[in-house]
Amino acid sequence: MTSTVTAHRKLSAIVEDARIVAAPYQPETAVGVRGLVKRFQSGAPVIDRLDLAIGAGTRVAVIGANGTGKSTLVRMLVRLVEPDDGMITVLGDDVRSLDARRLRSLRARVGFVFQRHNLVTRLSALSNVIHGAQGRVGGPRTWLQALAPAGLREEAMDCLDRVGLADKALSRVDTLSGGQSQRVAVARMLMQRPTLVIADEPDASLDPKSGEEVMAMLAELAGERKATLIFVSHRMEHARQFSERIVGLSGGRVSFDRRSHGVTEAELSGFFRQEEAA
Ligand SMILES: Nc1ncnc2c1ncn2[C@@H]1O[C@H](COP(=O)(O)OP(=O)(O)OP(=O)(O)O)[C@@H](O)[C@H]1O
Ligand SMILES: [Mg+2]
Repeated sequence: MTSTVTAHRKLSAIVEDARIVAAPYQPETAVGVRGLVKRFQSGAPVIDRLDLAIGAGTRVAVIGANGTGKSTLVRMLVRLVEPDDGMITVLGDDVRSLDARRLRSLRARVGFVFQRHNLVTRLSALSNVIHGAQGRVGGPRTWLQALAPAGLREEAMDCLDRVGLADKALSRVDTLSGGQSQRVAVARMLMQRPTLVIADEPDASLDPKSGEEVMAMLAELAGERKATLIFVSHRMEHARQFSERIVGLSGGRVSFDRRSHGVTEAELSGFFRQEEAA
């Protein structure tokens, strides 16, 4: 009897292990992270055995105090930062084992929007948006709007239209406001037709109204295209309003994980207070 119980326990443990290992590979999981570690120089790890699974098509806000590793985490998902240890699965790819060609192909499916828009400021809004197609249409056709075939230009115009900037298509980006530039960055991301959108503080350098507009656009457009959205924000009202789930980082791990619906301001400030006390 005892040996049957022991065998059953062993079997359960194996099944449990298999589930853990297999979880990130389920097609409905857009991002699976297990035991992720990142340390810079020889200091304490910034990310310390972090686990996280994000379902396909969901909108997730990542919050946490300055320096808790939010940017490091989202950048590691496509190896803009190299992890030291752990497993990362994104859109079905085992990210750490990808060769250069397959990594490029993954990056083409992941649209990034950064705090600073990373546009080529001496080029027009339209040329910048056309750059978004680089991952799927290689070569000079995506370098400048003047070199792009009509189909690409039309699609880019549609993307600019979606962010309310069709009339600025031929304006150089350095003549646009911060909010307009960030909307061009969102249009460029749309042009990529991504399956996963990662936005690292897209609202940070914008005034409250422009910041909210950009966040609303991101959430709406990601939803329309059934893309998964992961965004980092320090604005708790944005975290609550534009996500379905809020994940908080501290001590290198996920230490807060709640459905956004119903989460209270007090709970969010409690999370930040706990972090201060730690
Ligand atoms: N390239 C790097 N070299 C050395 N240290 C780094 C590097 N990038 C990040 N760090 C350190 O790692 C820690 C986490 O940085 P990260 O930028 O990921 O934090 P964050 O949560 O995004 O912060 P913020 O809210 O200010 O954007 C910080 O202490 C930072 O100084
Ligand atoms: Mg950051």
